[in-house]
Amino acid sequence: DKPRVFVSRVIPDVGLDRLREHCDVEVWPKPTPPRRDTLLDKVRGCHGLVTMLSDKIDESVLNTAGDGLKVVANYAVGYNNIDVAACRERGVAVGNTPDVLTDATADVAALLMLAAARCVTPAAASVRDGGWKTWAPMDHLGVELVGKTVGVIGLGRIGRAFAERCRGGWGMNVLYTANSPKPDADRDLGARRVELDELLAESDFVSLHCPLTEATAHLIDAPALARMKPTAVLVNTARGEVIDQEALHAALKENVIFAAGLDVTTPEPLPTDSPLLGLSNCVVLPHIGSATRHARGGMAIMAADNVLAGLAGHPLPHPVG
Ligand code: GLV
Ligand code: GLV
Repeated sequence: DKPRVFVSRVIPDVGLDRLREHCDVEVWPKPTPPRRDTLLDKVRGCHGLVTMLSDKIDESVLNTAGDGLKVVANYAVGYNNIDVAACRERGVAVGNTPDVLTDATADVAALLMLAAARCVTPAAASVRDGGWKTWAPMDHLGVELVGKTVGVIGLGRIGRAFAERCRGGWGMNVLYTANSPKPDADRDLGARRVELDELLAESDFVSLHCPLTEATAHLIDAPALARMKPTAVLVNTARGEVIDQEALHAALKENVIFAAGLDVTTPEPLPTDSPLLGLSNCVVLPHIGSATRHARGGMAIMAADNVLAGLAGHPLPHPVG
């Protein structure tokens, strides 16, 4: 009997085909995630799971899957949706998909930084809704990037790639926070590791690249926003929960900061009547950081390789932690 694998969304065939060579694969076919009860139903008796960031993999999922479960392969680099400690206790290996999505996600951070700095939300809307009547000397005045200071919160793979774009593209000064010093970045990018408060106060652009953990939940709250420059732009391609969204709404509305660009929110999607979506100085995207053919195909292969290794009792090629 082939091992049973549940894949909780349709992912590129390069990954599914690789799994199907060795496993009995069930793929959730719908454009929305399985509901909780459906997920529990589907994991029962599975040996491997390919999960999305929208699937909460906790004790009850693991217990329902049963003793045969060997591996959970998250189709994402972030894995805050998975109770890794509970997996470890049960001997379930956990993997993710780093590296292949680094450039795609850093590009979206740069895109949001530019879009927020250059007032793209109201500018593009004015073309569509007929509000734009003629070339206007005083409309949609944004901020420039060249020579400014960028603060990168979390200088991991994606934070570093974003910092390189800022340094190389616009000659920005780079400040960062990180759990450990990054001598390579200091040397190559002239970057400087600082405390969060200094980063917030000194940066013209602040971009979030940390994982969501207990330490980073609501890291950007009202006091943090108040420390930022009134001309500052905040970018989030990490996880929505890193920002206290109510505090961000208030800060944007009252021009405590200039603008924000968000690829991630709480919840996803935002309800269409969310107050954030009514703000002209906020750009919101539907969590498309890794949404290139290259990245998503690579993620599918990595997730499949993680599952196959886990099923064989081998160390995962892309383990978390
Ligand atoms: C997407 O958010 C990911 O973590 O890969
Ligand atoms: C502000 O940053 C400007 O130079 O336009």
